[in-house]
Order: sequence, then structure tokens, then C-alpha cells
Amino acid sequence: MDLGAGDCRKAQAWMPFLRPARYLAVDIAAHEIERALARMSPDFPEVEMVGVVADFARGLRLDGVLDARPATFFYPGSSIGNFAPAEALAFLRSIHAHCAGRTGSGLLIGVDGKKDRALLDAAYDDGLGVTAAFNRNVLAHLNRRFGFDFDLGGYGHRGFYNETEGRIEMHLESNRDQVVMLGDRPRRFARGERIHTENSYKYAPGEFESMLRAAGFASIRCWSSPGDGYSVFVAA
Ligand SMILES: C[S@@+](CC[C@H](N)C(=O)[O-])C[C@H]1O[C@@H](n2cnc3c(N)ncnc32)[C@H](O)[C@@H]1O
Repeated sequence: MDLGAGDCRKAQAWMPFLRPARYLAVDIAAHEIERALARMSPDFPEVEMVGVVADFARGLRLDGVLDARPATFFYPGSSIGNFAPAEALAFLRSIHAHCAGRTGSGLLIGVDGKKDRALLDAAYDDGLGVTAAFNRNVLAHLNRRFGFDFDLGGYGHRGFYNETEGRIEMHLESNRDQVVMLGDRPRRFARGERIHTENSYKYAPGEFESMLRAAGFASIRCWSSPGDGYSVFVAA
């Protein structure tokens, strides 16, 4: 079960070696997994491929999706960091609950680490402006979806590591006094006012291991990159 599968490229890389009986791609982005599964299916005709559209913010509801066979939960991409720690723990607990009823199940998860601050800052405020464009796209999406009239050029990208909270924060900062129409409601933004768009929590290996234990996992292995930049855990 690939949690937050996206374009499924990571699964596509291990698929020839593991050849599971079933592959379940779970994501909020229905289009993305539909396209990815259509791309992969012809290469792996013996693998039953299932797309599951779900919003993790509503918990991990898998009734009718998992059968009695053991399941491996594959959660790469450090997306666990987008949950606040208490929510991350609850999410890990629900994964553990699904594993507990199926002997031989487990979790393989990638977690971003509390690396050098300059590296973290640069990763979320890159010179090419990729993250800035990603962040401003929130406003484009709101305009498209809800008919708001955000001027994308009116907001600067701010991405930085908040050491106290142990998280990257992304904000969009109004670069002038402006009024935005949220449908038929005017909303005044003062110059310098920020919209907090994203958090990405970082974990030292020991911190995340404690969280996995608190979630109910007893058998835990961890591999970390030099300097604990990121870690991969296997937990059962
Ligand atoms: C950082 S990407 C990781 C993609 C892929 N697993 C990888 O490692 O390359 C995060 C993925 O999680 C999905 N996602 C984000 N929020 C979600 C939510 N609330 N519920 C389900 N999926 C979500 C996104 O659509 C995206 O595909």
C-alpha cells in the first residue's frame, strides 16, 4: 500500500524486484494515480493494481480495501512531516492498527531530518524559485477553484526553518497593502501580512523512533544518511 503515491515512480522502481500480488496506490490526487496506474499496469500484468482516493486528514479508512493478507505500508517522500506531531502519531497509530490485524505486515517510511539549517532554508527557498512557484500556486488554485482574485505577483514566498518548532514553515507575504475579493467578500491584506501555507516537520532519528514506539510498533530498524539528513525506517 503506497501512501501518498503521487506519480508512483518510486513503486515503479521496486516493482520488478518485489512483484507484489497487489499494489494499492493511495492519494488525494485522483487524476495523478489514475494516470500512473494506467502507465504501469501493462508492464506488470500479474500485479493487481488498485487506486484509492483518500484524504489522510480524515484518517486512514481502509474498510473494504485491505483483505486478510499481510500488507506493507510504503510511505516515502517525508510527507509524514506535513502532519503536526500529534496528528502524525495518530496517523502512525492507525497504520499500526491495520498492521496488527495482519501478521507479517509492516511499515517502510522515509523521514526528513533536522539537518544543517542553511541546507533546510535553501531547500525551501531555492535559487531557481521552484518552491516559490509551488507556494504561489496555492493562490492560483484558490482563484481557479473559488473565483478569488489573488494577484500572484502581490505575494512573496517565505520558506525557512523554525528551530523552536522543528519545522519548515512556508508563508506568502503580501508585498503591499491590497484588497483581494474572496468571491463577493473583500479581504484587506496589509503590506507584510502573511498567509501560512505549509509546515514540514523534521525529525531526528531518535525522535521518530520514539514516535513509532508510541504508535505501537515494537520492531524498528533505521538507516540514516550521513549527518542524519534523512532516515528510512522499517517498523512492525
Ligand atoms: C511529497 S509527495 C510524495 C509523492 C511520492 N510518494 C514520492 O515519494 O515521490 C506527497 C503526496 O501526498 C499526496 N497528499 C498530500 N496530502 C494528502 C492528503 N491529505 N491525503 C492523501 N494524499 C495526500 C500528494 O498528492 C502527493 O502525491
